[in-house]
Amino acid sequence: MCGIVGYTGSREAAGILVAGLRRLEYRGYDSSGLATVDAGRLHIRKRAGRVRELENLIHRQPAQGSCGISHTRWATHGPASDTNAHPHLGGRLGTAGLALVHNGVIENHASLRRELEAEGFVFASETDSEVIAHLIARALEKTGDLFTAVQLVLPMLEGTYGLGVVSQAHPGLVVGARMGSPLVVGVGEGEHLLASDAAAVAPHTRQVVYLEDGEIVQLTPGKIEIAHRERGPVAPRIDRIDWHPDLAELGHHAHYMIKEIREQPMTLVDACRGRLSRRDATACLGGLNLSPRTLRKIRRIVLVGCGTSAHAALVGEYLIERIAHLPVEVEYASEFRYRNAPLDERTLVFVLSQSGETADALGALREANRRGHPTLAIVNTVGSTIAREARGGVYLHAGQEVGVASTKAFAAQVAVLALLALYLGRLRHLSFSDGLDIVDALESAPGLIEEALKVEPIVKSAAEQIATARTVLYLGRDLLHPVALEGALKLTEISYIPAHGYPTAEMKHGPIALVDRDSPCVFLAPRCSLYSKTLASIEEVRARGGHVITVGTEGDRVLPGLSNTFLPIPDAPEILLPLLAVIPLQLLAYHTALKLGRDIDKPRNLAKSVTVE
Ligand code: G6P
Repeated sequence: MCGIVGYTGSREAAGILVAGLRRLEYRGYDSSGLATVDAGRLHIRKRAGRVRELENLIHRQPAQGSCGISHTRWATHGPASDTNAHPHLGGRLGTAGLALVHNGVIENHASLRRELEAEGFVFASETDSEVIAHLIARALEKTGDLFTAVQLVLPMLEGTYGLGVVSQAHPGLVVGARMGSPLVVGVGEGEHLLASDAAAVAPHTRQVVYLEDGEIVQLTPGKIEIAHRERGPVAPRIDRIDWHPDLAELGHHAHYMIKEIREQPMTLVDACRGRLSRRDATACLGGLNLSPRTLRKIRRIVLVGCGTSAHAALVGEYLIERIAHLPVEVEYASEFRYRNAPLDERTLVFVLSQSGETADALGALREANRRGHPTLAIVNTVGSTIAREARGGVYLHAGQEVGVASTKAFAAQVAVLALLALYLGRLRHLSFSDGLDIVDALESAPGLIEEALKVEPIVKSAAEQIATARTVLYLGRDLLHPVALEGALKLTEISYIPAHGYPTAEMKHGPIALVDRDSPCVFLAPRCSLYSKTLASIEEVRARGGHVITVGTEGDRVLPGLSNTFLPIPDAPEILLPLLAVIPLQLLAYHTALKLGRDIDKPRNLAKSVTVE
C-alpha cells in the first residue's frame, strides 16, 4: 500500500523514479509525486490521480537532478489531492529544504503536529506523514547531518513507516528507514535505489538488500551504510532477485486481471512443480522445515489470512479435514492477532498472503512468533517480510500478480493447500492408492482449468444481466462455499455491485429475502455429493421468480433447464472443483466490470498490498 522509489547515481533521476512508480502503482494509486535534488535545489512535482498525471506534469515541468525520491499514494489521512500527495516538505516557513515520502501510519501524529505548530512549523497537508518531515528538518537544524537527524527522530514516532528522505543541503544522498513497512535497497554500479518493493529496482539490478525493522540506510552513488536503531552499524546482506521483471508485462491482454485469470493452467504447473511424488503417492514440501516425526504429532491447524487469501484458507480447511483428517480453523488475520487464541505445541499456524506484506497478516505472524509459536507461511512474493519472518513455509511460485483483484494467487494457494493436505494425510492414515488419486487429480488440473477457461464467451452474455443487477447472491456448498465467497468478493471489488456469498442451504435463513428479477443468484452446482440438494435450492429461487445463473458440470442435462444461464466446467475429481468453479466467477466479475467501464486493474479505494492496519 503506497509505493516508494528513490535513486542516487549519475543518471537523471526523474525518469527512473516515474518508471519505478509505474511498477508499484498497483499498491496505491490515488496520487503521486517526486522530489529531485539538483545543484543545491529541491524540485517537487506532485499530482492527484494516476502516475501518468505526474508523468505529464514532468513533461511540462522537468525536474532535473541525479538524486531523488518518489511516491504513489493510497490515502489514509486526508483525501487524494495535490497537497496531500507525497513528498512532503520539512522546515520552517520559507526555509523548507527537505523532502520526505512515507508509507505506513503515524499513530501519534496529532500530538506531534501540535508540538511542531507551537514552534512555528506550518503544515501544508492533512497527512500524518508531514510531521515526520518537520521533525527531521528540526533535528537537522541541530545536527546538520541527515542520517543522524533521521536517527534522532525515529524514536519519537509511534506506528509504522517506510521512509525516504532527501535534502537540498545533501545532494546525492537518500536516507531510508523501516519499521513495519517494507524497504529494499537496489545495489547498482555507481548508483543505488531505494524502494518499497523489489519490483521497482529489478529492471536496474538483481542485487538487493532487504532492510529489517529498525534499520536506517544512507545511500550515495558509491556507498550503502546501514545502522540499526538500537544495535548500531549493520553490514549490508546482499540477496539476489531470481525472477525476471518482464514477466509482469501485459502482452496482448487488455488488463492484468484477465491475463492472470488465463495464466492459471501454468500457475498450477508452477505451484506443483517438483512437489508431487508418484513413487510415494505424496507431496514434497521441504520448505516446511519440520520433520515427519514432528508433523505426525500435530493435532490442529490454524490458517490465517485476509481477503482472497482467507477464502483460499477456507478451501484449505475443507481439503485438510477431508484428506488429512486434522481439525482446521480459519481466522481473519486482523482478528487472530488481537484474539488470545489458544495455541499449543501440537498446533501448526500458517499465514497465507500473496504479497507477503499485508499488515494484518504480518501482525498475526508476529503475534504467534512472539508467543513462541513457530509460524509457517504460504506466500507468493519471494523475499517479502512474511516470507523472511516465518520459520518455514511454501512459496506459491505464481509469478508477480499485478491486478488488484487476486486470481491466480488464489489458484496457487488452493493448490499448495491441497499439497499440504496430501502430505499430512500420507503421514497419517491416507492409503497409497488414495494418495495416488490426489497426485493424479493435481496433475490433471492444468488441462482441466484450460478447458474451464473456454466458458468465457458464455460468461460475456451472463455479464450483461449481472451488470444491471441490484445485488448478486453467490451460493455454494462444502468445498464450494469458499468459492461462493470468493466469487462475491471478486464482483464487489471490481464492479462495485453489492454481492454476498453464502453456503447454499443458508439461503433460506435470510438471503432469500433479496431474491427477485434484479438480484440474480449464482449457484455452484457441479456434480458432487450434494448435487441433488443444490437442485432443490435452485427450485426455491425459481419459485420466487429469481434469476438463476448456474456453474455446473459439462453435459449436465438438468441444470440448463433450471437456469437463465448455464456456465459449464469440465467433469473433475471433487478436490479440484474449487479451482474449476472459480474460473467462471472470476470471468463473470471481469466481464461485468468491463461492461460497466470500471478501472479493472486499479479499482477505486482498494490497493494490492495493504500495509496499514
Ligand atoms: C488486499 C487485496 C486483496 C487481497 C488482500 C490480502 O485487500 O486487495 O486482493 O486478497 O489484500 O492480500 P495478501 O497479499 O495478504 O494475500
